[in-house]
Amino acid sequence: MDSNVREVFDLVARWIHLIAGIMWVGNSMLFNWLDRNLEKVEGRRKEHIGRIWMLHSGAFYDVEKTMLAPGEMPKVLHWFKWQSYTTWMSGIALLFIVYYMGDGSFLVNSGGPVSPDLAKDLGIGILVGSVIFYDLVWRFIGKTMERQAQVISLAALVGLVWACTHVFNGRAAFIHVGAVLGTCMAGNVFLHIMPSQRELVKATEEGREQDMSLSLRAKQRSIHNNYMTFPLLFIMLSNHFPSTYGHKYSWLVLLTMMLTGALVRHILNVRFTFKAWIPALATTITGGLIALIYFMGIRGGSSGGGGPVEKVAFSRVQIVIKERCMPCHSEHPTDNVYTQAPKGVMFDTPAQIKAYADQIKVQAVVSKAMPQGNKTNITEGERDLLGKWILGGANIE
Ligand code: HEC
Repeated sequence: MDSNVREVFDLVARWIHLIAGIMWVGNSMLFNWLDRNLEKVEGRRKEHIGRIWMLHSGAFYDVEKTMLAPGEMPKVLHWFKWQSYTTWMSGIALLFIVYYMGDGSFLVNSGGPVSPDLAKDLGIGILVGSVIFYDLVWRFIGKTMERQAQVISLAALVGLVWACTHVFNGRAAFIHVGAVLGTCMAGNVFLHIMPSQRELVKATEEGREQDMSLSLRAKQRSIHNNYMTFPLLFIMLSNHFPSTYGHKYSWLVLLTMMLTGALVRHILNVRFTFKAWIPALATTITGGLIALIYFMGIRGGSSGGGGPVEKVAFSRVQIVIKERCMPCHSEHPTDNVYTQAPKGVMFDTPAQIKAYADQIKVQAVVSKAMPQGNKTNITEGERDLLGKWILGGANIE
């Protein structure tokens, strides 16, 4: 596909994904918060669960949570499902636009452990397999043995992160873990939460007891979704931070940040009944940050650190940039896919190269995100050279 057309699809899918995702997550947070702040009102009918008053946009909202007696079903009842389906569909579209259309250079680096074609098959296999695995574990084991199902799921998640970061390049690895989480979440809505809600409406209309097993399972899945949101949002953001996915121990970085996100979510969930939630939250966030700083400190690779700084002639840097970067990053790219400089990043003049020095370090020295898929076969020695030049002040004289 023409890279300009792809760019447009990418942008539109991303925009939709963001909007729908904000609506889905925002909605679920609001209801979660509502549930935890309901007040019981004495003297109400027996179906009454709780009531809450809120202030928004210039008026008061009086919301009551209740069950309904047969025949009380209102004409217009609002359900919330399209936000989650739209988020999922746009996310999958984005996954295909960015990683699967084209030559697979976004999935793996050349010279990596698997070929681009195999990586495409593995990516889809891992996605589908993980989601089915999760659903089966919770259908059959989680029903009665919740602890065991939790241990199995968490162990599988660690395995998934490890496998993805060892098969794909960093960015693709992170986003595939995200795609698994997102698909599990949308699957929970589609396969468990919506059927339970349909059953509730039907049972109410027919004036019978609701099938509690459905609603218990839906509750369980909805708690899972709640815990998956923060880790998943981190994954979405991480794609803008090559220092995370490009890290030597990227799998540990990802697991640490996911754990921090889930813990923060947990503390926010229990804060209405857990007195010490503020210190707990502060400790968790500080711990996560310290871990992140620690990881960034030991990122290893060829950052040019240690030892005396060797002076590197700019002419040598220019040759590396010309051969390894400018096929794409130039006003007139020669690459077969990128007919326009990606992200508008161009290295045609010394001044441009200098202006991008920090980013060159992040993209091509610290993380190995660039060259894209290492299509231009940059060597470790050349990365080292770039690192040393930048460390020495990125002089272009
Ligand atoms: C095969 C084409 C190709 C080559 C070669 C290439 N890049 Fe890139 N570069 C890309 C693409 C594609 C993007 C946009 C990635 C994205 O969508 O996040 C990009 C983005 C960038 C960015 C901007 C990152 C951002 O998110 O703003 C920098 C900086 C960069 N490349 C540096 C380099 C350097 C330095 C080299 C050489 C060592 C290099 N690139 C070689 C394709 C290439």
